[in-house]
Amino acid sequence: MELFPSLSLLFITFISLYVYFFLKPTSKAETKASGFKSYPLVGVLPEFLRNRHQFLQWSTEVLSGCATQTAVFNRPGKIHGVITANPLNVEHMLKTNFENYPKGPRFNSILEDFLGQGIFNADGELWRGQRKTASYEFNTRSLRNFVMENVTMEIQTRLVPLLEKAAATDKVLDLQDVLERFAFDNICKVAFNVDPSCLGGDGTTGGEFMTAFEEATSISADRFRYALPGLWKIKKLLGIGSEKRLAQSISKVHEFADKIISSRLEEQATKNNDEDLLSRFVGNSENSPEFLRDIVISVILAGRDTTSSALTWFFWLLSSRPEIQENILKELKTIRQQYGKTKNIGEAYNFDELRQMHYLHAAISESMRLFPPVSIDTKYCSDDDTMPDGSYVGKGWYVTYNSYAMGRMISVWGQDCFEYKPERWLENGIFKPESPFKFPVFNAGPRICLGKDMAYIQMKYIAASILERLKMDVLLERGKCPEMLLSLTLRMKGGLPVSMKQRLSE
Ligand code: HEM
Repeated sequence: MELFPSLSLLFITFISLYVYFFLKPTSKAETKASGFKSYPLVGVLPEFLRNRHQFLQWSTEVLSGCATQTAVFNRPGKIHGVITANPLNVEHMLKTNFENYPKGPRFNSILEDFLGQGIFNADGELWRGQRKTASYEFNTRSLRNFVMENVTMEIQTRLVPLLEKAAATDKVLDLQDVLERFAFDNICKVAFNVDPSCLGGDGTTGGEFMTAFEEATSISADRFRYALPGLWKIKKLLGIGSEKRLAQSISKVHEFADKIISSRLEEQATKNNDEDLLSRFVGNSENSPEFLRDIVISVILAGRDTTSSALTWFFWLLSSRPEIQENILKELKTIRQQYGKTKNIGEAYNFDELRQMHYLHAAISESMRLFPPVSIDTKYCSDDDTMPDGSYVGKGWYVTYNSYAMGRMISVWGQDCFEYKPERWLENGIFKPESPFKFPVFNAGPRICLGKDMAYIQMKYIAASILERLKMDVLLERGKCPEMLLSLTLRMKGGLPVSMKQRLSE
């Protein structure tokens, strides 16, 4: 007889807790004053679930309300962490106490199926070895020339004809998709000298590879966002849902990469192919074919969506700032007309000319300050530690630096931090780099991005080539920021629809 009242009581308690945890509106003042709003037993989970779709905006708001732009969180499953937008803390974790903050076991296990032991997913000696070889290779003149050659080819024979054709036929294009295809072709060439022709060509060689790569990336990234952290492992064990699709896409990626690597290993005896990144690693007989595959996949991941993400947000920002476009065009004209000779619009730029584009460099950097391609990055704390701002970090905690929030902190960039203002990067017209701890968009310290220079070459070249030839109209609601899609990189939900006109024909 007493069973029913007890069950009713339990039911009412459960419903009340549900309403309290999940439906109670957040008070801004409450959140701002105390970092993340935390509940007994479930920690920040209810707030996390409620804000998962707008994680960057939510975490930025919380961090801007914290005294040192750093907040602690906990979640069920004994997950503790610190998230920071404080440059001193960023310097501490990425440089001063680097050894204490590896990627760690959680990151490694989440990405292992896709990335294996490639540089992006490696720690300790395994990382050091790859870093040493790769940094040497990234700095060679032969790689730089190879990059210039490939970017020029991709722009002149694929990107520009595709956009000019769209202009002539009034066709609407998704610029984000175009830029992603460009970056994929480019990084495959640089990594293993294979042209998947995803842009412009018929795409049959690489289309399937690119789609599989995209799916493997986004499902792997989703593993970070499960409310119950180990759930993906159960799905994987049962071979169901997204985990089933992940296994299929990874096997396609591996098949494609394996073929390239085995033919390269066969070729090695006869040909001296030393232009791409793979050649440097193939030269070391200790590297197994599986390890070579892991390295290549990591490099493609690192170089693929980053530049396209940066340029997509850059073109969106420019669409409402004609005066900044004019400044870029003026700079390009000056560069084309220097040394008493005139270069026509459409003629290829060389490396030195790209280096002289200070204003464009500033405009792209400023866009990445507001929309960093890698918006958040998480490390693992190996041993108890205290951050420079006094925050305690326990062994086994996660430590995340939030580049997106950092770009929007008044304490870091001043009152005008929300404004898109390339001039803040210039001193007498010359680009003035910022501390990488204040602007950790390319990471900082011993693991700083290896492709930074290559990325700027590519981004400046693409931006200059498009802007001087075409006038773009973004077909999105004016004054409204497009929705963000946070995968491993920051994408624009639904893409960037644009229509174009030839600039010369005006
Ligand atoms: C706008 C473009 C780019 C941005 C914003 C960017 C940003 C980053 C960031 C934040 C990391 C650190 C990731 C981590 O350790 O968790 C990284 C690492 C890396 N990036 Fe980039 N990247 C860009 C383009 C490129 C390109 C074009 C390449 C060329 C292949 C590249 C190659 C790498 C490599 C190899 C690493 C791993 C370094 C290591 O772990 O030692 N990146 N990048």
